[in-house]
Amino acid sequence: MASDPIETRKSTEGMVDYNRNSSAQQQHAIMQADHIRRLVGKLGRVEPELRLVDYGCGPGMSAIETVRPAIETYRAQFADAPIAVCHSDQPGNDWNALFGLVNGPDGYLSDNGPLRVEAAVGSFYDRLVAENSVSLGTCFFASHWLSHAVRLNAPGTVLFNDLHGAARVQLAEMAYRDWVSFLRHRTAELKPGGYLLVSALGSVPDAAEANGAAAAGRGIYRAMQAVAQSMADDGMLDAEVLNGFVFSLWFMTATEASEAISGDPILATACEVEHLAVTPAPENPDDLFKDKVDDPAEYARLYVGYTKAFADSTLRTQLFEPSAQAPDAASELADEFYRRLDALYRAHTTTYACEIWHLTVALRRR
Ligand SMILES: C[S@@+](CC[C@H](N)C(=O)[O-])C[C@H]1O[C@@H](n2cnc3c(N)ncnc32)[C@H](O)[C@@H]1O
Repeated sequence: MASDPIETRKSTEGMVDYNRNSSAQQQHAIMQADHIRRLVGKLGRVEPELRLVDYGCGPGMSAIETVRPAIETYRAQFADAPIAVCHSDQPGNDWNALFGLVNGPDGYLSDNGPLRVEAAVGSFYDRLVAENSVSLGTCFFASHWLSHAVRLNAPGTVLFNDLHGAARVQLAEMAYRDWVSFLRHRTAELKPGGYLLVSALGSVPDAAEANGAAAAGRGIYRAMQAVAQSMADDGMLDAEVLNGFVFSLWFMTATEASEAISGDPILATACEVEHLAVTPAPENPDDLFKDKVDDPAEYARLYVGYTKAFADSTLRTQLFEPSAQAPDAASELADEFYRRLDALYRAHTTTYACEIWHLTVALRRR
């Protein structure tokens, strides 16, 4: 049984067909607009330029909606002040899709003042831009991806929340280290007085759960586990590969997020926590696609599209390819997986509904 080794490969290589299947993330970015406007409003004029960095920007419209309110707010105050917008993600991000949107009719290049656009390519667990250069950093729906893929002793689950014993402790420790490392890098990159706004999926205390907390999206991961197990039972997936596979994700509770900051001497000294909370999504918090529940085919189509967008690269590299017996077999396994997932959602609909809690953290660099 695979256990312990932390792999060198990434937890995700990037998103698939993201723009069409990320309505939740787009709504979330729009929902954060007031928060972003408030933070930019507090910055005043920044010299030599206002630098915005969106970490884990992804390839879709949410990346545009994240920076737009910051540009508009600053430009309304300082018509001639230079702005630099930096989109940051891993090499595997669909950069052509992103810059197509930036340059397109719904992009932000119609801004009338001096504005330049840049990209920082790499992992947000490393330094990505110069120290003391960022006025506002944002990171939405991304920091819950851990720094590396893991293989653990994880039979019966692909979700951190359902792990037990040593496997759970090991992933919890990695999540803690990663969160501290992410924040230390961002804090170093912020200018004094600058802000970091992070929003990721979160967890809430729930005595009915084996580990005492309910994780956002638990229904989707339990649906994926059920489908993967059925394929292993039918001899299509390697049972040992499945038993060692877990998504390298951790959705923190408010206590986990906050104790990591207050318990780290560097972070506790370098920044103030302006806001930290886990809250239900403002729309459809109990079921992302609640509005379609009376149409099981459409409900299933939406859930499969949403799942594929964030999970496909992880499933391919960590489950299908290691199980594949022949060069084309991984794609066939993927097709079969999504066919079964679709059938599961049609048959059981709300049993595997995706609940959403957001962890939102705003920090100010002292
Ligand atoms: C679900 S998408 C979110 C995109 C966008 N921020 C949004 O709100 O829609 C997660 C993004 O995080 C990126 N990501 C995951 N791990 C990362 C890492 N270690 N460094 C940089 N980006 C990472 C992925 O490549 C992906 O583009």
